[in-house]
Amino acid sequence: MISSSKIFLDGGDPEESRKVKELLGFLDGQTTNPTLISRNPQIKARLERGEKLSNAEAYKFYRGVVEEIAQVTSGPISIEVYADRETKAEEMLAQGREMFTWISNGNVKYPTTHEGLEAAEQSVKEGIRVNLTLCFSQEQAAAVYSATRGTKEPAFVSPFIGRLDDQGENGMDLIKNILEMYKGGDGHVQTLTASVRSVDHLLYAVHLGSPLITAPFKILEEWAKMGKPLPQEDFKYDAADLKPILYKEIPLDKPRASYDIHHDLTDTGIEKFSADWNAIVAS
Ligand code: E4P
Repeated sequence: MISSSKIFLDGGDPEESRKVKELLGFLDGQTTNPTLISRNPQIKARLERGEKLSNAEAYKFYRGVVEEIAQVTSGPISIEVYADRETKAEEMLAQGREMFTWISNGNVKYPTTHEGLEAAEQSVKEGIRVNLTLCFSQEQAAAVYSATRGTKEPAFVSPFIGRLDDQGENGMDLIKNILEMYKGGDGHVQTLTASVRSVDHLLYAVHLGSPLITAPFKILEEWAKMGKPLPQEDFKYDAADLKPILYKEIPLDKPRASYDIHHDLTDTGIEKFSADWNAIVAS
């Protein structure tokens, strides 16, 4: 842990978890997703040999990866359910219940869609820790707050900053706005800065006080080689020519279904995650 932020690795290869822990001297947790699992070196080698996995084998593999990571960090490890455009809340929940049994420090990741939020709402009632992923708007974060009210342990929301940057918007503004909005709440949702693409993203997230930050191996390695610097009081983030995302006054006390949570990047994110998972599974 640095400053008040916990630092997670975003990856699907336990070897990276071991190396990062060695480089940093700590690892506060990890996030995984279907794309990251599909890029695991063992999976890549199998695919190169023309071998795909059965559905059961793919889940067994994912479980094995998560169990290995759990030997490296006792912090939260996010495990993502399979969801495509058709996947209903009940199906996500069934996966979530199963995944939550894999390790003692898991958080089940659901997409920030109506179905994902419904699954998350039921999950927290059952004591399943959750992480709502593919968040691209303040409205979505407000809906996460609403859906997870009453959770025994903090729920996570993962705003994806790099993907907003990619389309010319200042993703870090979203982190700032969500943190500001949550100041008016009871603290049951923690912001997990995700889709980090640079050491500057990492430092600015620390500067803003994001409680959780997940970054890929190469960014954490770069930061370690720099001597793990922390942002100074006068830290300035250069958003270059990215379009600002303005803060909105959004009440947190509305029912989750009343928030306008649609975002195109959530839809494309779901498509990519499901396509990457389907590419490793024999149909
Ligand atoms: C977070 O949990 C996600 O796994 C991740 O940060 C996505 O990052 P990307 O936009 O680089 O794929």
